[in-house]
Amino acid sequence: MNALEYAQQNKARFTEELIDLVRIPSISTTPAHRPDIQRAAEWIAGQLKAIGFETRLYETPGHPLVYAEWLAAGPDAPTVLIYGHYDVQPVEPLSEWLTPPFEPTVRDGDLFARGASDDKGQVFAHIKSAQALLETEGKLPVNLKFIIEGEEENGSPNLDPFILSHTDLLAADVVLISDTSSRSLEQPSIVYALRGMCYMELEVRGPRRDLHSGSYGGAVHNPAQALCEIVARLHDGNGTVTVPGFYDAVRPLDEDERAELNKAPYTEDELKRETGVPAAWGEAEYRLHERIGARPTLEVNGLVGGWTGHGAKTVLPAKALAKISCRLVADQKPQAIYELVKAYVAQITPPAVTSEVRLLHTGSSAITDRHSPVMEAAMAAYEEAWGRRPIFMREGGSIPVVALMQDVLHAPVVLMGFGLPDDGAHAPNEKLTLECFYRGIATSISFLKRLNA
Ligand code: BES
Ligand code: ZN
Repeated sequence: MNALEYAQQNKARFTEELIDLVRIPSISTTPAHRPDIQRAAEWIAGQLKAIGFETRLYETPGHPLVYAEWLAAGPDAPTVLIYGHYDVQPVEPLSEWLTPPFEPTVRDGDLFARGASDDKGQVFAHIKSAQALLETEGKLPVNLKFIIEGEEENGSPNLDPFILSHTDLLAADVVLISDTSSRSLEQPSIVYALRGMCYMELEVRGPRRDLHSGSYGGAVHNPAQALCEIVARLHDGNGTVTVPGFYDAVRPLDEDERAELNKAPYTEDELKRETGVPAAWGEAEYRLHERIGARPTLEVNGLVGGWTGHGAKTVLPAKALAKISCRLVADQKPQAIYELVKAYVAQITPPAVTSEVRLLHTGSSAITDRHSPVMEAAMAAYEEAWGRRPIFMREGGSIPVVALMQDVLHAPVVLMGFGLPDDGAHAPNEKLTLECFYRGIATSISFLKRLNA
């Protein structure tokens, strides 16, 4: 039996194991879930150990990193480093889940659970690929390392220092990451560009404490209103960000890329179907996939201020807060964008309130090489497992570690995603289509073999 046949025959068992993993509520942003984070890390380490990897948990000031290696392919074989994350996003609003987020349920071939697609199922496909190869051939075609973190959804605050201080441990010829999506089941795709991130919070303050809105309303500038006035000035009517200098460093798409991306343009109909919005929005001079993949944005993630509880309370709040993030593209620098936003907000803050912009976390954008032998191996692996050659896509989301790995490990990065656009990552009813999981295992097996053919 070869590895592919082994994977085929063990689909049901692998699915049951994945269900055990996604049952663990490893939400990284909520301190109360720390024990679950620990459990998820140990569960994954246990899997890797059981299939023959040397495994170790590295403690960090935050959540542990799972590191595992199998280096018996020898010094002449290439070394592959697989990165992924075992942490998941919060689950709110809980009432919108058809089945509870940590009670995994299979419906119509989809596995519903928080983290099924982002990113536990995708990482797990590689672990099962390694298992299938080891069980049938007794060895792997390459030296293989895993680094699986528990803080990706929280901006990876402890990963960069770890990578910088463990470059020998992590040294590799290829970095493989599965934390993205394919275009569809019929049309696989490889993501070659990710956006960066500059996450901020904007606080507007007015009176020393909350005031009676009857006694002071009309004479004191309401911070919740002033916040909205500021936020309303951050875009113009075209959806273009108004912060001076915001677009100065943006690297335009070249004609080659534009043609490539236009092979499967994202349509307004698809957008409407996936999201339920009545119309698309944004910079009219760019196509939808360009707005998402090649243009930076400024988003309001949430607004808080004043009375938001049940019923009515007449109050003029002392302060209001907005969570604001910018998705960045090459060659924008997150810190420089923070300085620009801060300066502009200071300039447009109404005189009867004060404001402060605080930086929460940053991440760099990344572009990977579309024309390399490693990328060719990935294309061929998809073609074998999905029956169709993949197309290249830019992704609007962020995986901040990609840029750092490129810089520090000097290795090509391949973004071999096994999700689908409708997986509902970060949303209620997240799912992984099990067919993607099985094809993911097959793609991984084929890719690793091709690296040392
Ligand atoms: N898996 C995503 C990255 C992603 C998002 C890929 C959308 C494809 C489409 C990853 O887990 C993620 O959500 N990253 C965060 C990073 C942020 C906290 C710096 C993101 O993009 O919001
Ligand atoms: Zn992810």
